[in-house]
Amino acid sequence: MSERIGVMGAGVMGSGIAQVLAISGHEVICRDLSEEVLEMARSGVDTGRFGVKSAVERGKLTIEEADAALGRLSFTTDLDAAVDVDLIIEAIPEDLGLKMRFWRDLDAIAPQSTIFASNSSGFSVAAMAAGTERPDRFIGWHWASPAPVMKLAEIVRGPQTSDSTVDTVVRLAAAAGKNPVVVKDTDRSWGYVANRVYFAMMREADRVVAEGVADREQVDQLMRDCFRWPSGPYGMVAGAGSGWS
Ligand SMILES: NC(=O)c1ccc[n+]([C@@H]2O[C@H](COP(=O)([O-])OP(=O)(O)OC[C@H]3O[C@@H](n4cnc5c(N)ncnc54)[C@H](O)[C@@H]3O)[C@@H](O)[C@H]2O)c1
Repeated sequence: MSERIGVMGAGVMGSGIAQVLAISGHEVICRDLSEEVLEMARSGVDTGRFGVKSAVERGKLTIEEADAALGRLSFTTDLDAAVDVDLIIEAIPEDLGLKMRFWRDLDAIAPQSTIFASNSSGFSVAAMAAGTERPDRFIGWHWASPAPVMKLAEIVRGPQTSDSTVDTVVRLAAAAGKNPVVVKDTDRSWGYVANRVYFAMMREADRVVAEGVADREQVDQLMRDCFRWPSGPYGMVAGAGSGWS
């Protein structure tokens, strides 16, 4: 079933998320604060390294599918234009205060039925939902970069997230070719398992480097050779964008 989806933020993650969901058949409205950012997002989605033209060249999409996806995707600075939708995915910078204010303000203008999903890298779903009247329709949907390529769909349910919200987001993620895994925030702990495990490993890698045991390149090489990781812990974030670093 196709939905109307608003994506807030057209940076590294938002533009890729918008692209994936437009390819998946949804009408997507992607909103950012300036025309300059939107122009970069438009060209990234069209002719960028992970954009639709590149997908056509790699045989992942036909030209017709790419054109249809571009036709379903619009970019705007107008908040109202991106709010009257079934689902809003937020990909604005990783700042808890910013996200909490953002969701509180959006809650006042978005339709009651609209599901709110955050692509936060690790903030508690309950904290982000705290200023809204819809904790049952609030969920974490954690993507990895580049969104058009990576299969990650870490779905984080908060203590009050409803089954129907989880089901909707899992269905959308699977239909978009991702591998949804549902994890949960609890009263004592938080979800975002991929980043929790990654940062635990990163702390130890940093300790090894600080102790003078090995340098970063050596750590990366050892983890690739020992565990067949495609990339070491340092190489893994080399291309990460501003909102995450
Ligand atoms: N970059 C990554 O590898 C990665 C991976 C997973 C999750 N994330 C998460 O995704 C989120 C976004 O990260 P990013 O790397 O895309 O950041 P980014 O800086 O590339 O993009 C963020 C965009 O949000 C815009 N913005 C700020 N306030 C806004 C508002 N009120 N409405 C609409 N747009 C607004 C900014 O202008 C900017 O273009 C963060 O929460 C980050 O932790 C990032």
